[in-house]
Amino acid sequence: MFPRGREVILGVGGGISAYKSADLLRRLQDHGFLITVIPTRSSQNFVGSATWAALSGRPVHDDLWSDVHSIAHIDLAKRADLIIIAPTTADLLARIASGRADDLLTNVLLATTSPILLVPAMHTEMWQNAATQANVEMIRSRGITVLEPDVGRMTGEDVGAGRYPESAKIISAVEDILDHKADLRGVKVLVTAGGTREPIDPVRYLGNLSSGKQGYAVAYAAAVRGAQVTLVAANSAEPAIEGVEIIPVTTAQQMYEAVSARFDQCDVLVMSAAVADAKPSHESDEKLAKANYLSIELTPTVDILKTLSSFKDEQIMIGFAAQTGDDGIEKAREKYAAKKLDFIYLNDVSGGAIFGQERTSGLILDGKSVVAEIHECSKVTLAHKLLDLAHDKLGLPNE
Ligand code: CTP
Repeated sequence: MFPRGREVILGVGGGISAYKSADLLRRLQDHGFLITVIPTRSSQNFVGSATWAALSGRPVHDDLWSDVHSIAHIDLAKRADLIIIAPTTADLLARIASGRADDLLTNVLLATTSPILLVPAMHTEMWQNAATQANVEMIRSRGITVLEPDVGRMTGEDVGAGRYPESAKIISAVEDILDHKADLRGVKVLVTAGGTREPIDPVRYLGNLSSGKQGYAVAYAAAVRGAQVTLVAANSAEPAIEGVEIIPVTTAQQMYEAVSARFDQCDVLVMSAAVADAKPSHESDEKLAKANYLSIELTPTVDILKTLSSFKDEQIMIGFAAQTGDDGIEKAREKYAAKKLDFIYLNDVSGGAIFGQERTSGLILDGKSVVAEIHECSKVTLAHKLLDLAHDKLGLPNE
């Protein structure tokens, strides 16, 4: 089970099996990945850029010099959740081992902090050559996954090790890399998502732009890691998540009641929801006429995190601060302190940024420091980062 919308860069090396990466690309898309293909120059003797553009539905970058103004390789390297190179030729292995940056693909590899999966495919003799094996060993020692090639019929009559594996085997390696182990098994995670709506009259409400995507991403990521997850969701159109109990609510008060009823049994509370800070003092039973609609008296809603913080025991509490000004860090720290949080995620939402989108960027803070800088990534990736922090703070063992 993979979250949808994760970004993969598929590098294609110059081997006869490059055509097999067309099937791999399709299978990755079936699993919800968004693919950007970077073919090497030599691979285009086997499969041309037009094929990759058509299959991926995206422009194909193959040249360091075409998009110089946008520093394409740095941008691509930052965006990817995973980089796969299939096939990886003996020459690519040698270039990667020695840290060369002589084409777009090797530049991206040097610039990325994302996980990398190499799928070598070449003649048996080349694969078994001492130079290739030494390169593989060196690359693996740097934390890059290098898949063992399959054994079988090669181009021509030869039989041996070096074949491009079935797509299913590559996808299973992707699963191992991206899907975290069940390191939150037995942990109770309570998450809120979406934006509350505070009724004005039967047809109108005060609301906000939150889509619920971030909270759903946290619930999904926690469930994948084996946690027992309850998601209190306000007005989100996101689809249900297998294995996650979803409690739909509408207003801040309902969210407060749902969360406070479960707070003392939870180990981690992640308040991703955008809770309205105020509600109309009177909810009219009748639709308000124009004349009565020019001003609405407001009353503060309950501050859920602040209220629960006084009952806080061992729970890890994570809050979000969506800010628009230059004083974001200061404001986030104030919220961190006032709500007795363990971590707070600060993102800049000027001009409606982040809300409703698949990706996010910001800072995770605690009282003293910036715990992590989150470069633009999927909301699921941020979710895993927050859960990693909760996992460590709970003192749980690594799997
Ligand atoms: N929050 C909450 N209850 C509220 C309002 C917010 O629990 N009534 C939570 C949010 O879910 C979020 C954190 O508090 O995790 C910060 O929310 P934010 O709206 O940024 O903070 P406020 O304290 O409401 O501050 P302000 O709106 O004045 O910036």
